[in-house]
Amino acid sequence: MRILSGIQPSGSLHLGNYFGMMKPAIELQDQGEAFYFIANYHSMTSLVDPQARRSNTLDVALDFLACGLNPSKTVFFRQSDVPEVTELAWILTTVTPMGLLERCHSYKDKIARGISPSHGLFAYPVLMAADILLYDSNVVPVGRDQKQHVEVTRDIAIKFNETYGQTFVIPEERIREDVASVPGIDGQKMSKSYGNAIEIFGEEKPLRKRIMSLVMDSRSPQEPKPDADKNIAIQLLKLVAPPEVSKDYEDRLRAGGLGYGDLKKALFEHYWNSFAAARAKRAELVADLPYVERVLAEGAAKARTLAQKVLKRARIASGLE
Ligand code: ADP
Ligand code: TRP
Repeated sequence: MRILSGIQPSGSLHLGNYFGMMKPAIELQDQGEAFYFIANYHSMTSLVDPQARRSNTLDVALDFLACGLNPSKTVFFRQSDVPEVTELAWILTTVTPMGLLERCHSYKDKIARGISPSHGLFAYPVLMAADILLYDSNVVPVGRDQKQHVEVTRDIAIKFNETYGQTFVIPEERIREDVASVPGIDGQKMSKSYGNAIEIFGEEKPLRKRIMSLVMDSRSPQEPKPDADKNIAIQLLKLVAPPEVSKDYEDRLRAGGLGYGDLKKALFEHYWNSFAAARAKRAELVADLPYVERVLAEGAAKARTLAQKVLKRARIASGLE
């Protein structure tokens, strides 16, 4: 089984990225041949600062390795180190119906948030299809917001296969329902671009402040809260604390008597401690950046060998060769 996923270097990675995508992806490393990459071509649709792209790319590499990506099991690379993906994206655009892209929520959402509607932003799902199909991927671990993009990939692969003969493997998304959409500090889906994210790595003081600013209602501590399971701090605590601990807080909130301030303090402590080992690992990696570069270069070389093979298949099928 080949497993593939990507993450954009468009800002600091957060708990939604970690629990929705990175942790499931890291756990899948042992169940097949995993290919994970940093989607820097995709980031060009929303980020135009070259220096920010460079430093975010390095940060994603550090974050992923610190969180447990094992480069001796997994092929880890920068998307742009395998430029074959852009040729495949062109080939795929020619069999992609306009209507398929016009229906994509993510395009509409991004425009609504003020990202400029470039052709790249519109064609984003085609490049993502190329990422997936270029490596004969079977399984794509992602958060719920990417489900439609994997469905589009399947439609494009089927269309190509119908047009030019059996060429591509049809992939499937793998979404862990318990963490499919992690809430941010305002209760909406946590996202780099909504300003509601809690970073995986960062300075203690601002992160403590951020967690203390979680939006709660105005009920008094004494008041029982029958909807305790809907509380954002409880939902986040379930991710970072052992189940008996989060259950205890949830029960106390439900019964009344637990103040939101105390709940948030507990959330911060558990969050901070749960990433202590990863933080230490990240500091080691920062001290050895040539190692990180080597990992990405070796990953790119392996990815490229497979990419060239699959691209050739598509070129022959479509009569380019
Ligand atoms: P963002 O929305 O912050 O820009 P990305 O689009 O780069 O995040 O997402 C990278 C990966 O993390 C994707 O697989 C996405 O589904 C997952 N992800 C992002 N935010 C969340 C969230 N709040 N809950 C669950 N998964 C998420
Ligand atoms: N679109 C994905 C996101 O924003 C990133 C991505 C690019 C991706 N190519 C991919 C994810 C291929 C999975 C497979 O999160």
